[in-house]
Amino acid sequence: MTDRRRAAWIAPSILSADFARLGAEVDAVLAAGADLIHFDVMDNHYVPNLTIGPLVCEALRKHGVKAPIDVHLMVRPVDRLVPDFARAGATWITFHPEASEHVDRTIALIREQGCKPGLVFNPATPLDWLDHTLEKIDMVLLMSVNPGFAGQQFIPSTLSKIREVRRRIDASGREVRLEVDGGIKVDNIGAVAAAGADTFVAGSAIFGSADYAATVRAMRGAIAAAAG
Ligand code: DX5
Ligand code: ZN
Repeated sequence: MTDRRRAAWIAPSILSADFARLGAEVDAVLAAGADLIHFDVMDNHYVPNLTIGPLVCEALRKHGVKAPIDVHLMVRPVDRLVPDFARAGATWITFHPEASEHVDRTIALIREQGCKPGLVFNPATPLDWLDHTLEKIDMVLLMSVNPGFAGQQFIPSTLSKIREVRRRIDASGREVRLEVDGGIKVDNIGAVAAAGADTFVAGSAIFGSADYAATVRAMRGAIAAAAG
């Protein structure tokens, strides 16, 4: 069951935005009711795709974006980029633990640089990585697709993983966001919320829709309905 005191955050992934008009696209999703901007960094090494780096994050800040920027690093190695993204205005920095040589050190580095750290789990990545890290991170990001591309199908086995992470976070007593990323649409976001997620990445579902505000509203409606 979703904790009703925890606000649901909608995080549009700019991977599906029109990059030729990125500033305007980000302004538009924020005006449409988004809470934070999900920023997918792919390196053609850890994942088979190449996207955007710190320069683009900095450009969004210079454009006037004040909302939190949720940087999802799909890169290897990780540490080299952390200070660059901190300087570029990242709020959250999440990374895949298997892509870092020293996970505890990377978490500490993100914190030292003034950002909020989080760990990302691919569909087949075990949750054991949380055993000695949950007390040090501010977000758990569960991938509901294999990372690398927008527009993939939600993998249903993610739901039981969300429930397990929700149990662990609640048992920790800490404020840790539980974000889910990949294939989230208006018609499955309720199930994701009911399983215990509180932060919802949506790329193609929002940027591929004709009316961003109507889509964000429909998503919030489905989350509220799932909370009963
Ligand atoms: C996938 C990325 C996602 C992606 C989500 O590797 O991490 O953030 O942009 O896109 P949709 O919502 O279209 O699955
Ligand atoms: Zn992502």
